[in-house]
Amino acid sequence: MNVGELLDRAVERLTASSAIDHWQRDRELIEAEDLLAHALDIELGTDELDRELPVNAAARRRFERMVDRRVKGEPVQLIKGFAVFRGMEIGAQPGVFVPRDSSEFLAEQAIRRLRRRRRPILVDVATGGGTIALAAANEVPGVRAFGTDISANAVRVARRNAAALRLRATFGVGDLFGGVPSKLKGRVDVVTLHPPYVPKGELRDLPDEIRRWEPAHTLSDRSVDGLGLIGRTASEAGGWLKPGGWLLIEVSPDRSRAVASVMRKGGFTDVRSTVDEGFKVTRVMVGRWR
Ligand SMILES: C[S@@+](CC[C@H](N)C(=O)[O-])C[C@H]1O[C@@H](n2cnc3c(N)ncnc32)[C@H](O)[C@@H]1O
Repeated sequence: MNVGELLDRAVERLTASSAIDHWQRDRELIEAEDLLAHALDIELGTDELDRELPVNAAARRRFERMVDRRVKGEPVQLIKGFAVFRGMEIGAQPGVFVPRDSSEFLAEQAIRRLRRRRRPILVDVATGGGTIALAAANEVPGVRAFGTDISANAVRVARRNAAALRLRATFGVGDLFGGVPSKLKGRVDVVTLHPPYVPKGELRDLPDEIRRWEPAHTLSDRSVDGLGLIGRTASEAGGWLKPGGWLLIEVSPDRSRAVASVMRKGGFTDVRSTVDEGFKVTRVMVGRWR
């Protein structure tokens, strides 16, 4: 069998699956190509998948096993064992939030601000597998990047990711800023947060492939309005930031006004919503510490 035949068959199976959220045009083909490239050990983006290329039996079996898992709703990143985030391979495993492409914009907003500072310091609250802290460590010369998460499992994965990528970042377990060394109080340039923001009552409306594969504590803080953890961060972040430092929060578009108001209440100025023009599924709310 060749690449084209395998892709066509996989797309048909993925399209028919009710465990997959078919929200994006051509998502099934994009995912099938991604998985086949992984089975063939080809880096997509550098090499195009040639539809005429014959696929040997071992690679075909590898690919078909992966498609079987995807048809049941398992995210592609968990099947492959990693997500690509700003060019880095971030290890992904069940129990830890899978990094999303949409968060690359949060990282970009942080990196842009950190690059303007001398010996910059970043604290990435609710870091998961370390995604934002590692992107900053990779792209901002001289940055000191800290990540913190309430999940010891997430912090273990973040440390493993840092070691695999040979990046310098420090990770601690704790509730919000609880895992950050207290000597950083008043010295931080940028605080980033991609919080669990789904209101408690909306958890059951999420697509199956999110609800079944992401732990609930990574999606919702169990508050009625989804603003519990965001509100606490907005009121505590000022104690850690330098005057003129930034708080950046990734949220869904429908939450942006409420989050802006919470940030203003926390003492932030210049609060506004920023959006990645290519990828509009989330917003990054930015606010400056007075
Ligand atoms: C949406 S995930 C974001 C993970 C990562 N920043 C990313 O973008 O890939 C939310 C994260 O918040 C963490 N979390 C939940 N409650 C927390 C708390 N009270 N303090 C610190 N982290 C928390 C979860 O463990 C999870 O890793």
